[in-house]
Amino acid sequence: MAGMRLAGSGVLITGGGSGIGLALARLLLARGARVLACGRDGARLAEAARDSPGLEIRVCDVTDPAAVDALAAHLAAAGFPLDVLVNNAAVGHACLLAEGEAAARAVEEDVLIGLVAPVRLTGRFLPLLLGRPEAAVVCVTSAFALCPAAAVPGYAAAKAGLRAYTQALRLQLRGTAVRVVEVLPPLTDTPLVGKVRARKLAPERVAGAIVDALERDREEVLVGQSRLLALGMRVAPGIARRILARYPIPLAAVK
Ligand SMILES: NC(=O)c1ccc[n+]([C@@H]2O[C@H](COP(=O)([O-])OP(=O)(O)OC[C@H]3O[C@@H](n4cnc5c(N)ncnc54)[C@H](OP(=O)(O)O)[C@@H]3O)[C@@H](O)[C@H]2O)c1
Repeated sequence: MAGMRLAGSGVLITGGGSGIGLALARLLLARGARVLACGRDGARLAEAARDSPGLEIRVCDVTDPAAVDALAAHLAAAGFPLDVLVNNAAVGHACLLAEGEAAARAVEEDVLIGLVAPVRLTGRFLPLLLGRPEAAVVCVTSAFALCPAAAVPGYAAAKAGLRAYTQALRLQLRGTAVRVVEVLPPLTDTPLVGKVRARKLAPERVAGAIVDALERDREEVLVGQSRLLALGMRVAPGIARRILARYPIPLAAVK
């Protein structure tokens, strides 16, 4: 399959009002795409739209089926040509599983937003995407999809699950006009990890890698240190697992 032409295409980005999603939205707008960003926080979306001319926004909690129905109706009413779905929204709670039910609820929320919602959204919009001349589903996973960190069990589970789902989706859609792209960012400078003190990649780097993958027809995008981790998991998985287990938040710091 040749690379995708982004000018004139319609892209829906979940969690597109901040971080990697917003950086991606801006890059796509500059390419001439039509971009709709959704999220739960209307004020944050409105601010993003003010700073990004042309950005379309819609409040939608992707875990709420009625809100997703309303989003689908909005796309139809606005004549939005859905060519690319970017499953980007996620949350990540650091928690101690030994604390019982409260920790289990945190894990559940991570999995609901980071795995169940993208599966539902993809199911909802795939028939539309399959009707387009060329289309894509992009899933933003994480380096933690390759190997979990102890401090964020729900997040790691959601990302590993989303990676497996994305790979199966790609296999099932071979031979159709819908390409399936997975992006595995390393630690990136966004509100999600605002409290983590460590070297972080600029969100624009990750956004650039996503655009590059669509334009050059790449299926799996390892960005920055994720590439190193993937190599480590191949050649010395025991060492890689030990290093990552404490990264980026030592378990002792979670309280
Ligand atoms: N930053 C990193 O170090 C890093 C590393 C690897 C992977 N990633 C992945 O990159 C993606 C983007 O995250 P980010 O780093 O850019 O952080 P971010 O700025 O916090 O972006 C996450 C977005 O998801 C939205 N969101 C959360 N729950 C939602 C829900 N129920 N419905 C709709 N939108 C929801 C948030 O908006 P609202 O709060 O307004 O809903 C927010 O805009 C995520 O999948 C994350 O796992 C990030």
